[in-house]
Amino acid sequence: MNEISPPRPNNLDAFWMPYTNNRGYKTTPRMLARGEGMYYYTTDGQEIIDGTAGLWCVNAGHGRREITEAIQKQAAIMDFAPTFNMGHPIAFQAAAMVAEHTPAGLDRIFFTNSGSESADTALKIALAYQRARGQAQRVRLVGRERGYHGVGFGGISVGGIGPNRKQFGAMLPYVDHLPHTHLPEQNAFTRGQPAHGANLADHLDNLVALHGDTIAAVIVEPMAGSTGALIPPVGYLQRLRDLCDKHGILLIFDEVITGFGRLGTFFGSERVGVTPDLLTMAKGLTNAAVPMGAVAVHDKIFRTIVDNAPEGIELFHGYTYSGHPLAAAAAVASVDVHVKEDLAGRARAMEPYFEEAAHSLKGLPNVVDIRNYGLVAAVEMQGRAGKPTDRGMRVFHRCFDAGVLTRSTGDTIALSPPLIVEKHHVDRIFETLGEAIRAEAA
Ligand SMILES: Cc1ncc(COP(=O)(O)O)c(C=O)c1O
Repeated sequence: MNEISPPRPNNLDAFWMPYTNNRGYKTTPRMLARGEGMYYYTTDGQEIIDGTAGLWCVNAGHGRREITEAIQKQAAIMDFAPTFNMGHPIAFQAAAMVAEHTPAGLDRIFFTNSGSESADTALKIALAYQRARGQAQRVRLVGRERGYHGVGFGGISVGGIGPNRKQFGAMLPYVDHLPHTHLPEQNAFTRGQPAHGANLADHLDNLVALHGDTIAAVIVEPMAGSTGALIPPVGYLQRLRDLCDKHGILLIFDEVITGFGRLGTFFGSERVGVTPDLLTMAKGLTNAAVPMGAVAVHDKIFRTIVDNAPEGIELFHGYTYSGHPLAAAAAVASVDVHVKEDLAGRARAMEPYFEEAAHSLKGLPNVVDIRNYGLVAAVEMQGRAGKPTDRGMRVFHRCFDAGVLTRSTGDTIALSPPLIVEKHHVDRIFETLGEAIRAEAA
């Protein structure tokens, strides 16, 4: 056991764990104590290969010295400074560095502290823009079934995952949803983008027929991650772009997962060849070392809001920690590592091997679909009759106990390793997953 691993705590009661079966977890707690490169180490000293980059976020691998040192240095210089009518250099530096990699035009960066805040911020900016350009009737927001945009009221309202919504009442009014793009009958076991489903974007025409010119924005993930990795059908996002343009609707890409190299390009929009009007990010922005999110906003939107505002504050929105010095320092270092090590290029180079390894699980018991895009793969299993999510959770536990961290969403196992992953890691991840699936079927 590594000497610097913190010990297991004695009291597990006080921490109400997020998105967790608290009662189940606390009977058999799995506890990560340390991370380095492609690995976690538990409080018991077990080595766990990180098949999910934490939660899709530690893209450059764990314990990156450059990022840790940048945070330490900044903490010693200045721990905090407000950014309301005030500034500090590293927040401006971080914004400028991020803007160098966002799609052309999207070079105004609004900092938040998470993906959820980024989604809500993007929705609010979209509404403010429509009002500023004289279209105040555009108050409706459109999301997509099975979409995930975090846990704020805006995010769960446009989000499309039932269990994330049903405990929380009425949510935002004036929200509608596009159909999801998961078509297993036609697209099962597709490698990369599936052929069928572009026409599902046309549903936006139906919503416009229904709601007229009251829609402000459409928000989608270029690749829906949290719902089990739904890859965009060929042509689907372009069609959505065209329809948004036709109807005067803003298109928001939620790139909290697809940003920072995950799809083999710095942002996913480049990979899919479609540029949104606003783009959210978080996770890889700081390599998850300090919480931070951001929204990249097209200059025309920024100008419209700012130029049409009366003298004074132009957008009544912001967080105490927007552009927090430690987060900004981590972002500067993270962007630097992404660029210097060409992590997106590494992901692209590894994609064919990763794809092959994922699809080698085809034919295993209960496996009903395998899909992949960039360094993301999802292995979907037939759920146990009357016990949805049980098989997924059990396979997840088996993998963990065998030393591989996976992510289960429903009965789908998703893999999204750090972009520094090497072939021998890929082999071990999929061999372990295959064994767990077999063992679970036995
Ligand atoms: C696409 C997307 N948007 C938003 C979020 C929410 O991010 P956070 O958990 O940082 O609030 C996530 C988290 O996984 C996400 O995948």
